[in-house]
Amino acid sequence: MDYTHQAVLLEAAIEYLNIKEAGVYLDGTLGRAGHSSEILKNLSEAGKLIAVDRDTAAIEAVKERFSDEESLILAHSNFQDFDQVLSELEVEAVDGMLFDLGVSSPQLDNPERGFSYQKEGPLDMRMNPEQKLTARDIVNNYSQAELEKIISEYGEENWAARIAEFIVKMREEEEIRTTADLVEVIKAAIPKAVRRSGGHPARRTFQALRIETNNELEQLKNLIDKAVAYLKPGGRLVIITFHSLEDRIVKHKFRNLAKDCTCPPDFPICVCDKKAQVKVITRSPVQASKEEKEENPRSRSAKMRVAEKI
Ligand SMILES: C[S@@+](CC[C@H](N)C(=O)[O-])C[C@H]1O[C@@H](n2cnc3c(N)ncnc32)[C@H](O)[C@@H]1O
Repeated sequence: MDYTHQAVLLEAAIEYLNIKEAGVYLDGTLGRAGHSSEILKNLSEAGKLIAVDRDTAAIEAVKERFSDEESLILAHSNFQDFDQVLSELEVEAVDGMLFDLGVSSPQLDNPERGFSYQKEGPLDMRMNPEQKLTARDIVNNYSQAELEKIISEYGEENWAARIAEFIVKMREEEEIRTTADLVEVIKAAIPKAVRRSGGHPARRTFQALRIETNNELEQLKNLIDKAVAYLKPGGRLVIITFHSLEDRIVKHKFRNLAKDCTCPPDFPICVCDKKAQVKVITRSPVQASKEEKEENPRSRSAKMRVAEKI
């Protein structure tokens, strides 16, 4: 089955990347190449796009479509290891980088991947199918306290304590194996009156488990400093997030990287010697237009921030 993905904030992301036609660019989240194909259109034969995804299905789908594209280099890798990919290609620095976080529609739409609360499938949720840890391992092995913390923090779910309690009760009887099994437990934990409002009752818990399974927040934290280190002066780092916790990480990291001295204000002289590494280009995050939000519901929570290497 051919699953597609509609790129979010496409025009704005390309504009902010400020593409030089003979430049070298990194797309750290290839997906179905929505952004990558636009970057390629802006490159001459001398330009290069290195596109990375941790999902082998993304790499395979794009490889076929772009077999004639000489400027495109695909790599199956986690974006936090992009430095290894660059080093294998003998690329020391790039002119711009894009990270469009989260899951792609093909991942969500394929029940076998276990990301969707609307489709029955194995409780998997791994973006990289070669990874060991699955959502099933988390749901069946983490302690009640750990589950509550994840569901509350990453899912911002008010009913986290009850959901964690019900998961533990259910798994004592039988292992929770499928997305449908988990949806049933969540529905049982959330009172009926509450379930009537606020969308699908399993949405927040599934989001939390996806973030934990793929270690998404840690990887984002590790990524930003490294990304800036590999940008050429004037090169742009464009990050699109879909979750308030992710956006907060990007906002704080950018702010910190844009500061000179960070010594306490009562220090008579600077002892940290810190120099700003970037200029923040987007004072507030760029969001999708009303039209894009109507046309592509995934874009509703998208926030894009851009920094430029000094
Ligand atoms: C929102 S989609 C990107 C869509 C893409 N921009 C497009 O327009 O088709 C996110 C993609 O990034 C990948 N991804 C997420 N986290 C990753 C990571 N840490 N390293 C590499 N790829 C990652 C996912 O597997 C998914 O294919």
